[in-house]
Formats: sequence, C-alpha cells, structure tokens
Amino acid sequence: MRWYENDDLWSGFAETMFPPRRATEAADLVATSPLLQFAPEARVLDLCCGPGLWLLPLAQRGYRVIGVDLSPVMLEHAKARCPEAELICEDMLEFTRHGQFDVALNVFTSFGYFAEAKDNLQVLRNAYSSLANDGQLILDVLGKEVLASWVGRPKSVDVEGGYVVMRDTILDDWTRLRTDWTLIRGETARHAVIECFIYSAAELKALVTEAGFQDVECFGDFDGAPYDNHAKRLIVRGYRRD
Ligand SMILES: C[S@@+](CC[C@H](N)C(=O)[O-])C[C@H]1O[C@@H](n2cnc3c(N)ncnc32)[C@H](O)[C@@H]1O
Repeated sequence: MRWYENDDLWSGFAETMFPPRRATEAADLVATSPLLQFAPEARVLDLCCGPGLWLLPLAQRGYRVIGVDLSPVMLEHAKARCPEAELICEDMLEFTRHGQFDVALNVFTSFGYFAEAKDNLQVLRNAYSSLANDGQLILDVLGKEVLASWVGRPKSVDVEGGYVVMRDTILDDWTRLRTDWTLIRGETARHAVIECFIYSAAELKALVTEAGFQDVECFGDFDGAPYDNHAKRLIVRGYRRD
C-alpha cells in the first residue's frame, strides 16, 4: 500500500488534520479571499476534497461543486457535510473530465504525493485537461521557503484523551519531506507517515507551466499577498488558455 492509500492516516488523524477550526477558516476564506471569487454557478472541482471542508462553503456560495478523493471514509464525511456535492472516489493520478470545470482547487498540501516526479506533473496535466477554456487551477501547498523557517522542530497537538506528535525529516536534498505522525492515547500509540515532494515557488511555477497553464502567478496567502518573506503558504494560480 502506498502511504496516501492508508486510511489510518486520514481517518486516524482526522481530529488533528480536520478540526472544526479549519472548517471555519475555509468558510471565511471562501467568503473573503480574492482568489476564491468565481463566476456565479462556476463548476468547481475540489481535487482531494477530504471531508469536504471547502465543498460546503463553496456550494453555499452557489458554485456547482464536485469533490474527488481516494478515501471512501473521507468521502462519507464529505457527503454528510455537503449533501449537494457530487462526490467521486478516484485517484488524482487518473481523474480527468475533459473541459468540465471552471476551477480546479487542490488545497491544504494535497499535491506532490507520488514517488515519481512525472506522476505529480501528470496530476497537473489532468487538471488542465479537466478545465474549460479560461478555467483556473489553484494549488495550495507549503512552499520550501515557508517550510524552511520551522521544519524539523517536533510539534505536539493535544487531542481528546491524548496528543499527536509530528516529526519532520527532509529527504533527498530538499526534494521530499517525510512527516511521522504518532497519536498517543493512554497505553496505545498509532503511527502513520506522510511522504511528499516539496517545491519552491519557482519550481512549482515551472511545473504548472510545464503542464500547459498560462498566466501562472504565486501568492503567499489567500488574501492575494505576494509570495515573499511574509508568506504563510504557497498558492499557485494558472489558467487554461486555448
Ligand atoms: C491533507 S488532506 C486535505 C483534504 C482537503 N483538501 C482539505 O483541505 O481539508 C489530503 C486528502 O487527499 C486525499 N488523497 C490522498 N491521495 C490521493 C490520491 N492519490 N487521489 C485522490 N485523493 C487523494 C486523502 O484521502 C485526503 O483526503
């Protein structure tokens, strides 16, 4: 099993990855972010939608939302949260619907999961092919420049009856990041691993461009700030122009 197919990771650590605070944050961003204002009734694909934290506020704004995720458990949560969403259980490496969407979102570091660099590029090519002319991709990850300021320091987050410890290891000369997640509750410990490619802004911009996107820009947060030394995340936006 590949690490991202492990539902013990997405479900077992859901309290830490998808706390109620993130649902509120997603709703606020959908209401206020200049990067998330689309044409009325835009067809929005949420690629790797998880439990649908973004699907609900996007649907409430009147967009037609489609969520894709590989985890049946995550999709069950998404269905409960946002019954109006169309949900598809498919691998992002395979998922493509020619010209069907106006927006493709891939948020909260849901990119770079494949061990082969060409497969991560293929995900972007799939997104390109799934967009209509003038459709846009919005990719949200933790850029290397942002990660460099804190990566490596062990983090601990309290959860009900226990705590989660996260330990980072930089691999292959800053090509990939491994994060070991351990949940300790009483006498039991649950362990899972995330191992994904990491990108500088220039690297991700080049990859998005290689996939065919045009007018590619980087931002440092959903408020549209530049990707500079104050950046909190790396957001890359690109357009399909036929
Ligand atoms: C970090 S979570 C982010 C979820 C959501 N975007 C959010 O902001 O809450 C990553 C999600 O990607 C899904 N995933 C992992 N590998 C995938 C793949 N190959 N194809 C589709 N979904 C995948 C996981 O099941 C998980 O729900």
